[in-house]
Amino acid sequence: MFPSFVWKTRIEPGLRDAMCSPILKALADMRPDAPALEPGQGWQSAQDLHEHETMRELVSCIEHCTASVLRFLRIGTEECEITGCWATVLAPGASHKLHSHPNNFLSGVYYVRTGEGADTINFHDPRKQASVIRPPVVELTAENTDQVVVRVSDGTLLLFPSWLEHSVDANRGNDERISISFNLMFSSFAQRLSKPLW
Ligand SMILES: [Fe+2]
Repeated sequence: MFPSFVWKTRIEPGLRDAMCSPILKALADMRPDAPALEPGQGWQSAQDLHEHETMRELVSCIEHCTASVLRFLRIGTEECEITGCWATVLAPGASHKLHSHPNNFLSGVYYVRTGEGADTINFHDPRKQASVIRPPVVELTAENTDQVVVRVSDGTLLLFPSWLEHSVDANRGNDERISISFNLMFSSFAQRLSKPLW
């Protein structure tokens, strides 16, 4: 009843590896004189990465997966477009607090570099009222948990509803965790979709 979906796919290793170096170089070029991140620090790029030539293949993967999700949801012919796309680098010890992505329909993350201790994202129960009474349980299950931990690896691509709150635990690995997030919205929202339905 009323499921909350997170769609998970894995870019095939050949394409993943081909995309990796150009993306890492592009990100390094964006902060040429910046000192290395200190433990606990994070960095985010500008939000227009989807317009960069180095992201062309990734954008194509995102568009392909988005079309698949829209078909799954039986959404007709409405076009979705990427409205923002940015990289996040989390040094060891750095985390990302609970948040959602307002004013979009779908959001997602592509994982460029993960590692042991830096390979999860948490999705939180959107049913606020479900936490009013939360009796102790003898076992955490899919039916009684208030948080689902999704494991990711290099090349994982996630898509989820933009309203679904999520967070990232502190990086317990030794290397920087590098991911690319993005938002998608219906191109014709103001012109068509937001008109009264009655
Ligand atoms: Fe996010």
